[in-house]
Amino acid sequence: MHADNWYILGAGSIGCLWAASLCHKGLTPRLILRESSYQRFEHKRIPLKLSTQKQVKCFDIDIVSPGAIDSPINRLIVCTKAHDALAAVCSVESHLTDSCQILLLQNGMGSQQAISDTFPEQIVWAGSSTDGAYLSAPFDVCHAGQGQTWIGPIRKHKDSTQGFNGLLENFRLKVSQYDAIEQKLWEKLAINCCINGLTALFNCRNGELLDNDEKQTWLNQLIAETSRVLTALDIETPSLQECVYGVCQATANNISSTCQDARQGRATELPFINGFLIDKAHALGIPVDNHRKLMDQLRASGIQ
Ligand code: PAF
Repeated sequence: MHADNWYILGAGSIGCLWAASLCHKGLTPRLILRESSYQRFEHKRIPLKLSTQKQVKCFDIDIVSPGAIDSPINRLIVCTKAHDALAAVCSVESHLTDSCQILLLQNGMGSQQAISDTFPEQIVWAGSSTDGAYLSAPFDVCHAGQGQTWIGPIRKHKDSTQGFNGLLENFRLKVSQYDAIEQKLWEKLAINCCINGLTALFNCRNGELLDNDEKQTWLNQLIAETSRVLTALDIETPSLQECVYGVCQATANNISSTCQDARQGRATELPFINGFLIDKAHALGIPVDNHRKLMDQLRASGIQ
């Protein structure tokens, strides 16, 4: 039996938010960086800052690289982008215990299944979160919007009730166990696949999708196509139009994560959002021409 050794893969906003929140709980997570980033740090114990509207807290945290890990990993939280997640977990594979619990916090769908299939020995969980966080500087995270995180095991497993129980109570993030996690992943994916790609293509804020012009017409078509796929998959959601319009209104001034990626010239997570939906629709024989047109136009604009 190993002591719980918590490791976090990815030092972006979500990785830093979870690392700081675990430190706040009195745990000692270690942040795994890519070898090249790790080498840039002379000191391997660094300050991690967490700000909210009410307070600023600072914690000291160990950073490691896959090659510098010196204890078995039995709790791993993966906070990389969807397209990096599988390779990131593979990079620490030799350190994972057989009973390691892995929590995946990627946007979209597809990467979670690929990791669960690649690591059949380990207990793999997926999470879906509405927390809002951004990095003001490296290792300086602002928890801008307190949200809710649902976590649930991807496969049924006899030990899966134990895994992340410690996160459900006395934890500054609101985490609940939700066994039908795929439902939660679909709910978020459905909203993201209507909003994110369009905001990236038009380089606009979320609220501007409701400007009553070409963007809104396209938004409505994406909503209709997405709803048809959800219905065919028997995924029950409240009215998708109400949800999408509600998110656009509530986050009217926000730049979506995909629009931010596009502005920075980074790869987006759309292959795991609209790409995943298009593949499902294809398998079901449901036309999703407006999703395809969106992906084609994004590609033509150099947004991948
Ligand atoms: O990806 C995002 O940015 C968010 O999930 C959402 C809901 C689109 C709000 O900006």
